Amino acid sequence: MSGGRVTEIAFFSAKTYERQVFDAANAAAGNPHHLVYLENRLELESVGLAMGAPTVCVFVNDVVSAPVIEALAAGGTRCIALRCAGFNNVDLEAAERLGVTVVRVPSYSPNAVAEHTLALILTLTRRIHLAYNRVRDGNFALDGLVGFDLAGKTAGVVGTGRIGAIVGRLLWHLRCKVLAVDPYPNDHLLNLGAEYVDMDTLLAESDLITLNCPLTDENHHLIDEAAIAKMRDGVMLINTGRGPLIDTSAVVAGLKSGRIGSLALDVYEEEADLFFEDRSHEIIDDDVFARLLTFPNVLITAHQAFLTNEALSAIAETTLQNVSDVLSGTPTDNEVHPTDA
Ligand code: NAI
Repeated sequence: MSGGRVTEIAFFSAKTYERQVFDAANAAAGNPHHLVYLENRLELESVGLAMGAPTVCVFVNDVVSAPVIEALAAGGTRCIALRCAGFNNVDLEAAERLGVTVVRVPSYSPNAVAEHTLALILTLTRRIHLAYNRVRDGNFALDGLVGFDLAGKTAGVVGTGRIGAIVGRLLWHLRCKVLAVDPYPNDHLLNLGAEYVDMDTLLAESDLITLNCPLTDENHHLIDEAAIAKMRDGVMLINTGRGPLIDTSAVVAGLKSGRIGSLALDVYEEEADLFFEDRSHEIIDDDVFARLLTFPNVLITAHQAFLTNEALSAIAETTLQNVSDVLSGTPTDNEVHPTDA
């Protein structure tokens, strides 16, 4: 691999829409990097494709486990650049032990994810996903499309960081009462009149619950059978955070019983084997996911909440700057350490 001024980046899980934006950002910076686009997901079987590149660039479903990092480090990789905010797929302790610096893009467009969250909520409240297909079929009947007003409803926001704070604000502007759970309350939301409560209160009092927190060791299956039992009948549940925040089998049971009135997911706990690929000619092997697809009150997008022009450009610029900083020894706040997990 090349040394000198131009540094090589092995870019795993590359998609066409990313190549254009990363090439443009690299050109705008004077082409400091040589980007080698690889369609493969990074995992133990594909790690050899990095071929000793000083940097590998990865996305949410690349497997950045200890054995993978060991293989990368042995090949000469010194930097793992996440082109996303979440870093739950990286073994940070292994990276630190092996002297591999991990960087991420903590904030690219919180608006993109927040607006997608709102799009999911509004689609479900007004049954737009059903209406869209019906009208295209020449069926103009309204039976089954009765929605509900958001104004006056109670919205529970779990995690009010960059994204959740915007979601809370948008829902407040739609005249919802906003409840929130976060160990670090957001001043702007507090000033608007949002109430920070404990999780049990949020579960018991919310008409809609949106998950906007990161996945950590502590909140795996935050929404499980016990949590669902505490929710209001007919509650709307939205997850644009990370799939494993929800025990999907428990949610399927909640949908069957009617406790959960509607569900929208942009993330799914077993998404790594499904999302980001065209599988329209395959049989879906995941029975839980296949069951979800049968409910008329379930709306799923395939991890696209981040996917706006603005977000992609910001991701590309920050990722390439992160790599330049790491390789030149310039400290960056975008480094991720085991203590951040
Ligand atoms: P952030 O770091 O700004 O905010 C996260 C907030 O969650 C913090 O205020 C933190 O205190 C809080 N939190 C952590 N654990 C919690 C818990 N158990 N209960 C309640 N609150 C908790 O992060 P940001 O930018 O708002 O992103 C949030 C998450 O959204 C990311 O970690 C990522 O998993 C997800 N995400 C999803 C995307 C998508 O395309 N679907 C795109 C970008 C992020």
